[in-house]
Amino acid sequence: MHTADTVEAVKAPAIQVVEERKPDPDRAILESLRHTVYACSSVQRIHGGFLNATYRGSLIKPLQNGMRTVIIKHSEEKDSKAPQLTLSLTRCLTEQAILRGLGSTPSQQVQHKQITIQVPQLYQYLPDEHTQIFEDFSKNGTLHEFLTVGAGERIIASTAVALGEALGSWLSRFHAWSKTQVDTDLWSTVEQNSNGFDKNLRDFRINKLLAIQAQCKSEQLGHYAALMHSREFGRKDTIVHGDFSTRNILIQNPSSIDKEKNTSLAVIDWEACCLGDYTRDLAEIVADLYMQTILYGSQIAHSLIQGFISAYPPLDEEAAYRTVAQIGENFFYWNT
Ligand SMILES: Nc1ncnc2c1ncn2[C@@H]1O[C@H](COP(=O)(O)OP(=O)(O)O)[C@@H](O)[C@H]1O
Ligand SMILES: [Mg+2]
Repeated sequence: MHTADTVEAVKAPAIQVVEERKPDPDRAILESLRHTVYACSSVQRIHGGFLNATYRGSLIKPLQNGMRTVIIKHSEEKDSKAPQLTLSLTRCLTEQAILRGLGSTPSQQVQHKQITIQVPQLYQYLPDEHTQIFEDFSKNGTLHEFLTVGAGERIIASTAVALGEALGSWLSRFHAWSKTQVDTDLWSTVEQNSNGFDKNLRDFRINKLLAIQAQCKSEQLGHYAALMHSREFGRKDTIVHGDFSTRNILIQNPSSIDKEKNTSLAVIDWEACCLGDYTRDLAEIVADLYMQTILYGSQIAHSLIQGFISAYPPLDEEAAYRTVAQIGENFFYWNT
């Protein structure tokens, strides 16, 4: 007889607990910078758009210009959660190239009254990691946040007009440069982005239009979507920013803006930069500001539009038509 002592215990097969180790993106970013002068002791994620992650990194050693932090933007082409979507990495190649190109041009820094508009400096591009390192411009936030979080009570109309004028004046200088003085290497890099990331963006938008059309069964909208699909406005003879909205404009010292003290704006996020019709940038910012007057009742946004239009050189009738048509188009893409 077997006693309890003598019975050989039936050994259950050992359960192997396999822990799914998710890669730690913050650690990967720290690691990629380790051998550069931008090595950081810590990074803080400040923005996690789709297929991009942006961080503020605290440098182990301050830079020669005294800066102790940098902005790190890392891009991916695909996301396992949405395998059907591809966003070409031509976007970061182009963003770093245009930032380098703008470094020595009149639009690098424009002064209008007490407002300075600039483009952040690109410190380094790590091509294998698709990571860019920029000058840290501001912790104060975007112009969008400034305008939508109670700025109506904070600034007077003439200041808002001046902000708009500064933006119009900066954009006209940028377009004047981009139409005539761009070197061929930069031009062809930007052209690749027109056929890469910008094409992905256009396809995405057309699908959105078609989805709206299917939902509201409007014949007129169907015609409109087909028209948008088949034609593009204007010529592709200018380098455009491509995503010129208040979400991509940073503002520094907003609290001092009515006190004649210097306020700075920075135009960021050049990943949609491509060859296009210059009216695309005009339409994007006007549509964006106009939506703020509608959604948030912002009078200040209205004054910005006035200032912006008055400072950008006058448009002929054809260009004005193209601008208005694209403003309308932008309303369809609002929440994307
Ligand atoms: N040079 C910069 N200085 C300070 N903050 C920045 C800078 N560049 C980007 N940011 C911050 O990171 C956010 C995302 O950057 P952005 O280039 O617009 O990326 P995305 O293409 O994902 O929108 C911005 O809204 C801003 O808060
Ligand atoms: Mg952005």
